[in-house]
Amino acid sequence: MPAGLRENREFGARPERAQRCKADVCRLMPLAFAGKVRQTDDAKSEDRPDNHRLTALDSGRLCCWGLTMRPDHSGSLARAGAFSADEREAVYRAIETRRDVRSEFLSDPVPDDVIGRLLAAAHHAPSVGFMQPWNFIVVRDAGIREQVWEAFSRANAEAAEMFSGAQQSAYRSLKLEGIRTAPVGICVTCDPDRCGDVVLGRTHNRRMDSYSTVCAVQNLWLAARAEGIGVGWVSIFHEADLKNVLGVPDRVEIVAWLCLGYVDRLYGEPELAIKGWRQRLPLEELVFADRWGGGE
Ligand SMILES: Cc1cc2nc3c(=O)[nH]c(=O)nc-3n(C[C@H](O)[C@H](O)[C@H](O)COP(=O)(O)O)c2cc1C
Repeated sequence: MPAGLRENREFGARPERAQRCKADVCRLMPLAFAGKVRQTDDAKSEDRPDNHRLTALDSGRLCCWGLTMRPDHSGSLARAGAFSADEREAVYRAIETRRDVRSEFLSDPVPDDVIGRLLAAAHHAPSVGFMQPWNFIVVRDAGIREQVWEAFSRANAEAAEMFSGAQQSAYRSLKLEGIRTAPVGICVTCDPDRCGDVVLGRTHNRRMDSYSTVCAVQNLWLAARAEGIGVGWVSIFHEADLKNVLGVPDRVEIVAWLCLGYVDRLYGEPELAIKGWRQRLPLEELVFADRWGGGE
């Protein structure tokens, strides 16, 4: 783990270290962190050491001898130590036992408040420039889910033709959706225009908004595991078909169709691995040191 991260994790557990780190930062930014800055244009304040005389103020930004500083928000920081052993175990358990669900959905209704918690988890995902480009269309209507299934069915027939021989037979034997059996569908979309054309962090890679939306899906997926709700991601559609069924505007991207429902059993490993389609790769083959291929 990088040293910076390690130190950060220790802040909660070892306050004296936190104090030391804070002191280090204070040396670099004496006014902002030593609590000596007031947002005033009074250059004669007693609080201010001579060598850090304020020279200008503009909309909350402070300048001292060429060094531009921002208001001190350190009071907004919360303690961030490691979780307790039980809490850590719960997080890793959710990650390791989360599964893509296709066939195990129970028909029990999923209450609105539970859906609300899952959506709140999704909405707390990181996003480029804090863009929050997502929308969530919660679909309980069986007729709409039937139309979504028909769109899947057409695309899936095309998909099967893209494989050949034994692989095509194997593909055809797989169940790759639970659109009609899961009581709830959630379509997760990405609005590229959520905060204008120039977005902090998306300036050099337009796909960052889609990646942010995928983070929201993963948050929802993990929270659902903790709630005893299975989630299945279905991606085998022509996007235009799904947009048509759901009335999604052209400019908005469909990122995921998620099938949701209570489950009382889940596979212990990915279903595709159990059914012989593909196995999990050894992690050590995927990790490089310092540069591509490094450490091999
Ligand atoms: C972007 C994305 C799209 C997926 N699309 C489908 C899909 O169309 N049908 C399906 O059965 N599974 C789909 N999956 C689920 C994967 O097959 C599954 O995550 C993978 O086999 C690993 O299994 P696990 O999620 O149970 O660990 C998708 C997963 C992701 C992340």
